[in-house]
Amino acid sequence: MKTSKIQHVVIFSGAGISAESGLKTFRDSDGLWENYKVDDVATPQAWEKKPELVLEFYNLRRKQVLNAKPNPAHFSIPKLEKKYKVSVITQNVDDLHERAGSKNVLHLHGEILNSRSVETGKTYRLKNAEINLGDLCENGHQLRPDVVWFGEYVPNIVKAIKICESADILIIIGTSLNVYPAADLINDIKSSCKIYLIDPKDVTIKKIANITHIKKSASEGLPKLVEELLKF
Ligand code: APR
Repeated sequence: MKTSKIQHVVIFSGAGISAESGLKTFRDSDGLWENYKVDDVATPQAWEKKPELVLEFYNLRRKQVLNAKPNPAHFSIPKLEKKYKVSVITQNVDDLHERAGSKNVLHLHGEILNSRSVETGKTYRLKNAEINLGDLCENGHQLRPDVVWFGEYVPNIVKAIKICESADILIIIGTSLNVYPAADLINDIKSSCKIYLIDPKDVTIKKIANITHIKKSASEGLPKLVEELLKF
C-alpha cells in the first residue's frame, strides 16, 4: 500500500503580516519606530543608558499589540493544518498568530507580552500592559521586555533552522529580510522546497530558484494562496 507523507508548510513572517492589524513596520516608517530612534530603544546599550526610555517604548508597543486584532492573513494559516503539518516562525513579538489559532508558533525575536529577568533569564507572562523600573522577578532582579534587541543572540535560531530543514513549502510573508540571522534561514531549506514570497514590494532575496513572488498585501495574498494549497 502506498502512503503519501504529509507535507510540511513553514510560514516565515515579519512585521508586514501585522501591518494591516495596525501595527507599524519599522522599515516603512523612515528609520524611526513610533518616533523613537531604534538605537535609543532596542539595543543593550540603550538599556544600560536609559532603561526608563526603553521600557516606555515597549509599554507603548505592548498596548498597541493588546488593542490589535489578527487579520485575514493570520486567520488563514491554521486552515492549512487540515492538510499539512504547519510551523510558523515569526520575527514578530506580537501574539496575533496565536490569537488567530496557529498552534505551532516559534518567536525568533521574543514575545512582547512576556517579561524576562535580567539576571536569571526566566520569562513571565505579564499580567498587565507595563513593565516599570523596580518591577522585579522572584529573585529580586529587574524585569525587562522578553524581546531580542539588535546585537543580541537569537536563542531560537537553532530550532528555526531545524524547522526550515524539513520544509516542503516555505511561505515568506511581510519581511524585508534585512535582519540576521533570521534572513539566513532561507539557506537552510532543501533544494526541492517550493518558496512563496508575499510582499507588495520587491524584496532582495539571494535564493532565486523555486520562488513565486505574490506581489500583494498579506491579507489579500495569503488567504488566496492557502485556498490554492488546500485544493491540490
Ligand atoms: N502585507 C505584506 N507585506 C507588507 C505589508 C502588507 N500589508 N506592509 C508592508 N509589508 C512588507 C514591507 O514591504 C517589508 O518588506 O513587510 C516588510 C516589513 O519589513 P521590516 O519592517 O523590515 O520588518 P521585518 O523584516 O519583520 O523586520 C525584522 O527587525 O524591526 C526589527 O526585530 C524587528 O523582528 C523585526 C526585524
